[in-house]
Formats: sequence, C-alpha cells, structure tokens
Amino acid sequence: MIFRVKRFDPTCDRRPSWRAYTVDVRPKMSVLDGLFWILEHADSTLSFRYSCRAGMCGSCAMVVNGREALACRLRLAHVAAPVHVEPLRSLPVIKDLVVDMTPFFEKYRAVDPFYRAEDPAVTGPAAAPAVVRPESRELVDLQLGCISCGACYSACPVVALNPEFLGPAALNRAYVLSADEREPAAGDRAAAILGDGGVHACHAVGNCVAACPVGINPLLSIQLLRKGATDR
Ligand code: SF4
Ligand code: FES
Repeated sequence: MIFRVKRFDPTCDRRPSWRAYTVDVRPKMSVLDGLFWILEHADSTLSFRYSCRAGMCGSCAMVVNGREALACRLRLAHVAAPVHVEPLRSLPVIKDLVVDMTPFFEKYRAVDPFYRAEDPAVTGPAAAPAVVRPESRELVDLQLGCISCGACYSACPVVALNPEFLGPAALNRAYVLSADEREPAAGDRAAAILGDGGVHACHAVGNCVAACPVGINPLLSIQLLRKGATDR
C-alpha cells in the first residue's frame, strides 16, 4: 500500500514536501503500524508521536486522507489508498507528524480547566465527585471523556482563521466544569467563555463533532454555554 507522508524538518527544509513509501501491509494493521513499518524498513528519520497504542492517550492524532484520526485506531482496511498522512492543522510542526501542542494547551488553560471549590482543601483532582443536575449527568459523563488529542482543534475552521478562538476542546472543558453545581461563580472562566475567543466566536460549523475520536460533541457544549449565558 502506498503511503504519502508530509515531511518537514525545520532545521533543514524550507517547506514541507510529500514523500511516498510502499508499505508491506498485513491484516489488521493500523495507520500507526504503517508508520512503524516505514520507520523500521524504509526511513528511520520519520518522526511521529504515540504512547498507548490503544486510543486512550490522544498523542497519535494526525490527519489521514484529509480527516483527523487517531493513527493507532484507524485500520488500513478502512482507508483508501494511497494513504495521505499529515500533521494536525493549526499547530506549529516540530518535525514531520509531530506538532507543538502548546497553543492548544494554552487555550485549555485559559478556561481555568480545574475544579475550584470555595474550600481550597478540596480543589484539584482529589476533590469530591462532581454534583451535576440529573438531567445533565449523562451528557456531562460523555463530554468528560476528552483525551486532549487536538483533533477537534485541527478540524475547526474558526481556529484556523481566528487565533483568539479558544477552540472546541477548551470550551467543552469549560462546559463540563460549569455543569458542576459545587462551583462558585467562576470569574476567570466566565470571562474566557464570554470573551472575544469564547463561545460567541464559534460559527457552529460542527467539524469538531465529526473529528472527535471518542464521540464527544464539543459543539453541543458550546451551545449549552451560550444558552446558559443568555438565560443568566
Ligand atoms: S473533544 Fe474529542 S477531538 Fe477534541 S481534544 Fe477532546 S477527545 Fe480530542
Ligand atoms: S497512541 Fe494513544 S491514542 Fe493512539
């Protein structure tokens, strides 16, 4: 199977270029397995990121045939040849398929992504379980499963055009926290949600929903944040 991989090494290349490799595909191989095949048999300089190889860590997110995917979860049997593999969009490329996630996590941090209790002793991961209105619990449980892969960020055309926009993942996290009734009015988070880069910058294109590999609907979170702000 032909793989065409977008290669870029900022230390020696002026611009990215596509390089083709003929991969010896075996049954059940994933796109990530194909990249390993290239690394081991064709080009040991190829760079890509991975960790769990089980669709849990989010580190192997990339663009395959024009769509965001977790390379470890996407079977080659489900991909049309030639397979075009390129890095996530809207993030600086460190090398080949490895992007710098700093802008993504800076925006994530901008929504104050931690639970803040009035009692600092219970703030942080060890805090008591969230108190969520029963009618929202199922949705919050789903939206809570973000693995911070950046696929939605890459797929979002507003992120690409508006550097201020916090993006789907950060706003989804803001929604999950805003649904927790233990939270006092979160000033910084509320300002970020309603600021220039917040929910009102979203154009409701919905690419984030299609891109999310774990079934989260960030657009719904954004719409619920908007509704909450309007109701208030
Ligand atoms: S919302 Fe989905 S696509 Fe976006 S970062 Fe989280 S897991 Fe990835
Ligand atoms: S390597 Fe962890 S999600 Fe693919």
